[in-house]
Amino acid sequence: MTKTLIRIVCLILMLVSFIAYLARASAFPISSENLLPWSAWFFIFALANVIMWQRVMKLLSFVLLIIWFYAFAANIIPETSTASVDVSSIERTPDAFVEAGEAIFNGKGKCHTCHNLGAGATKGRCPNMEGIGARAATRKPGMSAKEYFIESLYDPTAFLVTGYGKIMPPVWKPPISLSNLEIEVVIAFLQSQGGEVDVTPFNPPVVIGTAAEAEALPPILAGNPERGKNIFVNTAKCVACHDVTGVEKPVAQTLDEGVVVVTAPDLTEIAALNSLRYIEESVLIPDAEIVSGYGSGSVHTGGALVEGTLVSQDDEKLVMRIKQSDGTETEQTILLSELDAEPIEELADLAGKGYFWIQITPSDATVAISGDLVEEDDESITLKVGTETQKISKSNVKVQVSVITFDDDEPIVGELVSESEDEIIVNVDGSERTIDQFDIDTTTTSRAFGKRISVKSPMPSNFPQLLSVSDFNDLLAFLSTLKGAEATETASATGGDAPAEEAEAEPAE
Ligand code: HEC
Ligand code: HEC
Repeated sequence: MTKTLIRIVCLILMLVSFIAYLARASAFPISSENLLPWSAWFFIFALANVIMWQRVMKLLSFVLLIIWFYAFAANIIPETSTASVDVSSIERTPDAFVEAGEAIFNGKGKCHTCHNLGAGATKGRCPNMEGIGARAATRKPGMSAKEYFIESLYDPTAFLVTGYGKIMPPVWKPPISLSNLEIEVVIAFLQSQGGEVDVTPFNPPVVIGTAAEAEALPPILAGNPERGKNIFVNTAKCVACHDVTGVEKPVAQTLDEGVVVVTAPDLTEIAALNSLRYIEESVLIPDAEIVSGYGSGSVHTGGALVEGTLVSQDDEKLVMRIKQSDGTETEQTILLSELDAEPIEELADLAGKGYFWIQITPSDATVAISGDLVEEDDESITLKVGTETQKISKSNVKVQVSVITFDDDEPIVGELVSESEDEIIVNVDGSERTIDQFDIDTTTTSRAFGKRISVKSPMPSNFPQLLSVSDFNDLLAFLSTLKGAEATETASATGGDAPAEEAEAEPAE
């Protein structure tokens, strides 16, 4: 009688643990330190059942054990190798595409190292992909979600999400080297994040084969990675700011005067994500592309200058991390509308100087025009005024001057009427005043007013002067071995003078 009871209890426990295992329930017992996963509980009860029961039930338990064994083995194998999915014979169905796309997003595509999906720890440097399937259709007027994704992946810098720099690599180029089909599959996965999945084929905008090959050509000068590592640590002291897994920071390291150690991106995987070209540019011209979240920003607001690390920025506000005098850091949110309009002397390269909003008065107008800066070339600027855009010539604008003469303490402020070698004529509130150039101490002119966010890289820009060409090559050779924790180990183990781009030789379709 008791035996039957034990049997039945065993049977129930086996079935419960099997179901819990299939449903991926969390380990049990939860309170104890040593959790036993449900698969282990199932194994124990199944064995007990095989021993206790006879015939039919023994057979049933045995069959469940076999299923468990296959499920268990199948679980272990793909979990270690999701990094590479073979899409060559994939079925063109939404489900198959989305599933493979997710694996590429988290594996070969390296998308997850920059982008995250949904809530959780945000990676400040790149946009979150939550809801991107719906958002994509709203990014560029006249562009469907799919067209936007195609552009984002083949030519990521064609449109930049507000607040982010040009740091996303074209994923079809080395080192990521996705094939056209892999890109299609990733797009399906992105569409599945809040949008409609459409798996009809499209014509890729680039011919990957030849373009990627040209990109993969080995450098003419191949440096020595071991020596490069020494430059990274001791000569250029990059390691003072940048972490690399497996490279120790020396205890005491002094940087050049005026250079402060700051939080900088981890470089452990830099070569797995970026071309050598990008890495080279990052070191030679740090200001060329600033990784979002790491730039030092400065803005004028309420008559004061606010400086700090520009944490994030969108169309309405920016967040700055500011160091207080006691060393602690605080975050401050500033609305773009609260920024001060500063006088602009020269109208050249406004966008490059960080201006995003301009107020300007064309010569033939009586009132000023203001709006967001949409486009700019050498001759003109285009502003978004209300719902319309307005193009204004840079040479035909009213100029404001403020003249301080030797005789007067108060500056004469007004509109510049004309200026010659001998005199300046200023219109002050409707009446013209002629001032002799001889009497003038200083003049300040402004052709417009603008709001701006200026961002600079805190990384030193004097490495080209500091390092010799051969040092620089060695440094690049070292940086090109940084392809993640595993790769770094093997690279430093083999060391020597292996050609820098060897690992990039993976053939692209
Ligand atoms: C080195 C970091 C990096 C990697 C790797 C990367 N991205 Fe990006 N991505 C960015 C940054 C930065 C932006 C924002 C700037 C821009 O628009 O180009 C961006 C923008 C995007 C956008 C537009 C987002 C929006 O909100 O409009 C899409 C889509 C995208 N990435 C997809 C991908 C996919 C898919 C992969 C992998 C195959 C990938 N990215 C790999 C950095 C990266
Ligand atoms: C004073 C601190 C500092 C030092 C020293 C420094 N960097 Fe940087 N570096 C930064 C910061 C901050 C960024 C991110 C802002 C930017 O993009 O410029 C950066 C960006 C980079 C990037 C781009 C990273 C990415 O994820 O895209 C590379 C590559 C790089 N640094 C390499 C180097 C090398 C090589 C050296 C030594 C020769 C060096 N850095 C020295 C602070 C530093």
